[in-house]
This record gives sequence, C-alpha cells and structure tokens, in this order.
Amino acid sequence: MVQVAVLGYGTVGSGVVEVIETNKADINKKAGEEINIKYILDLRDFPGDPYEDKVVHDFNIIINDPEVSIICETMGGNEPAYTFSKNALLSGKSVCTSNKELVANHGPELIRLARENHCNYLFEASVGGGIPIIRPLNYSLTAEKIDAITGILNGTTNYILTEMDENGADFDAVLKEAQEKGYAEKNPEADVEGYDACRKIAILSSLMKGKSVHYKDIYTEGITKITAQDFAYARELNRSVKLLAMSKDTEEGFFAMVAPFMISKEHPLYGVKDVFNAVYVHGNMLGDSMYYGRGAGKLPTASAVVSDVVDCARHPGKTIMCLWEDESVSLTDIADMKRRFFVRVSADRKQKAESLFAVHTEVNAKMEGEYAFITDIMTEKEFDTKVSEMGGVINRIRMEG
Ligand code: HSE
Repeated sequence: MVQVAVLGYGTVGSGVVEVIETNKADINKKAGEEINIKYILDLRDFPGDPYEDKVVHDFNIIINDPEVSIICETMGGNEPAYTFSKNALLSGKSVCTSNKELVANHGPELIRLARENHCNYLFEASVGGGIPIIRPLNYSLTAEKIDAITGILNGTTNYILTEMDENGADFDAVLKEAQEKGYAEKNPEADVEGYDACRKIAILSSLMKGKSVHYKDIYTEGITKITAQDFAYARELNRSVKLLAMSKDTEEGFFAMVAPFMISKEHPLYGVKDVFNAVYVHGNMLGDSMYYGRGAGKLPTASAVVSDVVDCARHPGKTIMCLWEDESVSLTDIADMKRRFFVRVSADRKQKAESLFAVHTEVNAKMEGEYAFITDIMTEKEFDTKVSEMGGVINRIRMEG
C-alpha cells in the first residue's frame, strides 16, 4: 500500500481526495498498488467530513511517519509550502504539486533535491490545470527540439475576453460579472495583469530549454486596456483578441512574453473559449501539436495531481527524468521581435500615420473620430519609435497568425 499525505484541504486538496476516492479501483490498478490517504494537513478542523479523522495540524507527524512516501502539496503560495516540500524531499518523500508559484520560484532546486534523494518532485497540475502538458514535454516530445510554445494559460482572462467578444461587453462589466459568478478572484490582479500566465509560461519555457527562464524577466502585459471597440475592429478582421503567453527560440534569440494578441480565425488557438486553456507546441520534427482542456477548477487540477501520484507509485525509489537545471536562460529583448501591429489613432493623425507607417491594411469599424490600420512587419522598437512620433494612439494590439 502507498501512503499519501495531502497538504491543504482547500479546493484542490479536497479535489485530490475526491478523485482518489471516486476512481479508487482504476487508480489502484494503474498504480499497481493501493493508494491510501493517511493524512490531510490543514489549520482547520472539518467536523462531519468523511475524512475528518485524517486531519492533522502538525507537519511533523507526516514527515516523521516512514510509511508516508508521497505528499500532495496543494497549499499554494511560497511558504510554508517551500519548507514543507524541501523537508519532504530531503526525507525521500515524493512531492506532487499544483503550486505554480513555488515551481516557478524554486523548481530546479526542488527537482535536484528529489534526484539526490531518489524520489520525485512532479508538477503536472501547475500549468494548464488538468491538461497533460508537463508530461508530454518531459516524456513524449523527447525526440524534438521544441522551438515555440504559445498558450492560453489563464482561464479567467480567457472567459472575460470570450464574453467581450461574443456579447460586445466592456472589460469592467464582464470582470464584475465573472467575480459574481466566482470565476474571477475578488482581487483579480494576478489574472488580468497576466502575472499568472507569466509564471506558467516561465515553467513551460524552462522545460523547453532545460534551464531556468525566470518569470521576472518575461515581458508581461495584461488585458485591462482591451475594450469593446477593439473587439469591433477584430470582428471586421475575422479575428479575436486572446491573452497569449509565448516563448520562441529563434536565430535572433530566445523571446518570451505575455500580452493580448489579435489572432485570426485560422489560428488553432482561436477556438479556445471561456475558461478553457490550450498549449500549442512546435517541434522541429513533429511540427505542431496542441493540448487543450480545463485549465483550472477543483477536479481537473486534482486529476493532474493524482496522475503524478500514480507516476510516483509506479516508480518507487526512482527519479523520473526532468531536465531543468539551475542555470539561467538569458532572454532576448522583445524590442527586437518582429510582427504586424493593429493601431487605432484619432482621425486627425491619419496623414501622419500614412507617412510614418507602410500601412498594410486600413480597418473600418465605423468608429467616429478614429483611423485604424495594420502595419507592415516591423520590430517592436521601430514600432514604438514611430508611435511616439505620431502621437494620438487610442490603442494598439499585436497581431499573431
Ligand atoms: N486563476 C487561474 C486561472 C487558476 O484563471 O486560470 C488556475 O491557475
């Protein structure tokens, strides 16, 4: 029997217990052993809960129990999750986590500790919730040199943008509605400013390079400046606006960024709507592949944590290969990235715009007092210089696909 402890009996932690209970017979068969939840660590008591007798308040009970070999860390945040995870790995206990913050901050150190102590630090649930993406990158695409990853990695912002697109609503109104429905947090900053997607693309980029891509180095722009008018223009262009998290390994350097992009109907990420996430991966032999599903929520995220538990149970005393060294990748300044831009300016700038930019397409969404156009391909640096010379910019959105 494999004894498991769950740290944190919140949304994901209680989901882990539910997944193991609901699919017990199948999970045990696939693990080759019976999986049993021995402890649940939480500060609170849960009177009346079927698992109330498993609840403990002291982590030492878990760390000092030699029977426990796998720990599910579903607490979130840096501390005490970091100290608990480190101590667990130092004791040879595997850790399966949904904690993207901890993985983004301390991934290589915790992976190394797991290797040194013949156990595992697995984090399938940290990116894309229930979507299998860490395992494909680590095990399935091992024959590939992955040169691009583009993802819709945040369910809250994808829900907001979908509502804005389909109902013509403005950002503030949709955010309020999403908060009332419980889709968006009371403090939505981490989602709407792109910080959550940034941590997730930092993790995926680190696996792509086998070295650390630090989230603090990634240029990040959220969706708060996107308006209903922007979507009216996007519709004229048969496009939508999506918050994309991307990294690209090119001859000009390694770029990573998070920002809203106008994407065409033909783009594989165009059809990813509501709270769904997707990760679009390009490898030099395979070409494109895409991974789609529920990127958040209790049971999808818990399912990914439990898949890691099964992996640990299948490999007792062995470390499953994960290449992520504690060496930093230096990112190329996005100022050198080339693309087209969609631009809205006040109508009095039309001539100036035409003289500064080689206008590729004019866009007419019948917006009074405005002139809108798509530029030719240029670097971000060139674009910014021309924009400051032109003035009068209402909004600008990068184009992809
Ligand atoms: N706030 C995140 C989202 C939850 O909206 O996708 C999953 O990390």
